[in-house]
Amino acid sequence: MSAHVTLPPLPHWEQAPVDLAAATRQVKRALRARIAACGRTVEEVFAVVEQRVRAEVDEIVAVRERGEAIWPVIDYADIEAGTVPDEARALLRRRGCLIVRGHVDHEQALSWDRELVDYVESNRFFENYAGPADDFFGSVGSRPEIYPVYWSPPQMQARQSDRTARVQAFLNRQWKHASAGVQWFDPDRDSLYPDRIRRRPPGTNSAGLGTHLDPGTLELWMTQDYQRAFRHLFDGTVEQYDPWDAAHRTTGPQYPGTTMCSVFRTFQGWTALSDMAHDQGVLHTVPIPAAMAYLMLRPLLADVPDDDMCGVTINQTFPVNDTWHPMLRPALSGIPDVRAGDSAWWHCDMIHSVAPVRDQRGWGNVMYIPAAPWCPRNEHYAASVRNAFLTGSSPSDFPAEHYERSWTNRFQLDDLNDTGRRGLGLD
Ligand SMILES: [Fe+2]
Repeated sequence: MSAHVTLPPLPHWEQAPVDLAAATRQVKRALRARIAACGRTVEEVFAVVEQRVRAEVDEIVAVRERGEAIWPVIDYADIEAGTVPDEARALLRRRGCLIVRGHVDHEQALSWDRELVDYVESNRFFENYAGPADDFFGSVGSRPEIYPVYWSPPQMQARQSDRTARVQAFLNRQWKHASAGVQWFDPDRDSLYPDRIRRRPPGTNSAGLGTHLDPGTLELWMTQDYQRAFRHLFDGTVEQYDPWDAAHRTTGPQYPGTTMCSVFRTFQGWTALSDMAHDQGVLHTVPIPAAMAYLMLRPLLADVPDDDMCGVTINQTFPVNDTWHPMLRPALSGIPDVRAGDSAWWHCDMIHSVAPVRDQRGWGNVMYIPAAPWCPRNEHYAASVRNAFLTGSSPSDFPAEHYERSWTNRFQLDDLNDTGRRGLGLD
């Protein structure tokens, strides 16, 4: 793009538009016009992205065919000592996902798993459980796999632990968190995003979860902040698109919905509370951070109906599928075998899925703990998290089930350490 060209502005909707189809047509027309004004066609810009992503897909397939590991693995001890090898860091940034070995001591993780069982049983959770309250995980039957429990002592101890804080700070630093005189987030302060736990018992048959994205839906194209965050995709400078640039990611709104996440997460994550073999219905990713550019530009091609964003719509998870994105599937890669105490992390824009399993061997237990560094968006959400913590309520991003309000053995205010107090915005 030459500097003297003034690109036409984009229409934007800071709240979800009432007429989604009309807004989709309007923003797609404007995006195409904006890209055209820079002197390249949408097809040319998309071809650049496609080539970049295809090279990664081909590399991942080749690595797998050589029998080598796809997922980067780093020992917690190296993160704590500051001795992570440069090659390991480079692979983390290339793949956008990571297993941290020994994040938590193995015995500690197993003991947390037992404490979680004691916590829910002591509160007669299974007798009182009313069934899944959201449609996302609604297929699991009467005894849950996903427990709507947020405030147990093990979860809070893990969230506020020094070890978790070190891993989060390391991961946050893979992002560019300051630019143009703005600090977009604080890499050394996490907002303790409360999420649930999963305990999937031996013998489980599960259809898994299809490939999808978590960062949002139509707002990714339609709000001013996201249009700025993805500016290089929309102004013809796609070669400069950087999946690790946090500029404009940490300020804007999300469209409300049952699948929404109010906070900015550099990485999604969980900490394993049981050993899990790689073929027992585990997490998979398309480990290509730049695939986000492909997903964002794909709807602008001529074969997609004008009122369709390749199936993305509010109140539903962002789908990734063989109709629009068949090129990506060969790169879908599962985690290696993990032990209780290992943690798994994946870039917030990363395509992921959970594989199906029949007659699962062993347990499949995790605590969902992401990296959600302090920033305007997360500070805003922290106010409602504080209130949910103090009252034992379900956090506002999740169904209003509130099982723990009457559970007296939940984690208490006095149990917070400095990290916990800072994370909840109490200090
Ligand atoms: Fe997800």
